[in-house]
Amino acid sequence: MVYFSKRCAMAILLAWGAVAPLSAAEAVADPLSQYREMLGGDNPADLWVSRGEALWTEPRGPRKATLVQCDLGLGAGVVKGAYARLPRYFSETGAVEDLESRLVSCMVQFQGFKREEILASRFGDGERHSSDLEALVAYVVTASKGERMAVPQNTSQEKRAYSMGKAIFFYRAGTHDFSCATCHSADNKRIRLQALPNLTTPTGAQAAYTTWPAYRVSQGEFRTMEWRLNDCFRQQRLPDLKYGSPAAIALTEYLARNANGAVLAAPAIKR
Ligand code: HEC
Repeated sequence: MVYFSKRCAMAILLAWGAVAPLSAAEAVADPLSQYREMLGGDNPADLWVSRGEALWTEPRGPRKATLVQCDLGLGAGVVKGAYARLPRYFSETGAVEDLESRLVSCMVQFQGFKREEILASRFGDGERHSSDLEALVAYVVTASKGERMAVPQNTSQEKRAYSMGKAIFFYRAGTHDFSCATCHSADNKRIRLQALPNLTTPTGAQAAYTTWPAYRVSQGEFRTMEWRLNDCFRQQRLPDLKYGSPAAIALTEYLARNANGAVLAAPAIKR
């Protein structure tokens, strides 16, 4: 792993324009290709992965317990392959959970953390690394990298989450009367230089879902799927998406299930 700092990432990014100019078409199609090449297969997300692995096995919280008994869907403590099979229904909470809400449930159940306290610092904040959740997400997701998405839909709760996610995707609201579909249901569209994936086709849905969570170069941060969805709530001019809410999980269920069969390539590197 390349030893990597945020400043170094920015320096590479700034140098990138000077090195070997891409054609305009290439740069628009994949503006980060040269940056990735310079990293030679390394991803700064690795820093979050190792911190997440340490957090998983370290006794923490009021109960001084680890997370190794946490059931991510494949049995207590099984991390490998779990993310490719989430969201799913958990009988012990009586709810469909995505990875992020599941981690919160386990931190509450085993370590005795308070849900509100975890949620108060759910997203990373520069080098203070305030969010443990992101590091845990990075660790669990990486253990499914290369596996095929296989989100189950065996229970009525999972089916309901999928149809609710689909309804939210097409629901128009807010000052501009946008839905997710307004920006994400046609091929080859973009806003400024950002390509807008068509999330209504299997190829588009698969390419988008399997490359999140990701290390975001422009922010020097590792970002989760719920962060991505919340950022699109902002694009849609909606109020903040409540972290771990049924709406966040339903949208994730819809996108994840539509990506079934594709190979997970996350954590990726994004703009
Ligand atoms: C006003 C337009 C707009 C709306 C509405 C919108 N998005 Fe987005 N979305 C974007 C843009 C722009 C990007 C690319 C952002 C970037 O590169 O920083 C994006 C990126 C994404 C991605 C990541 C794609 C990838 O390959 O990295 C997902 C997933 C996504 N949106 C889902 C949604 C969902 C779900 C909704 C509805 C809740 C939604 N979006 C609503 C504009 C929109």
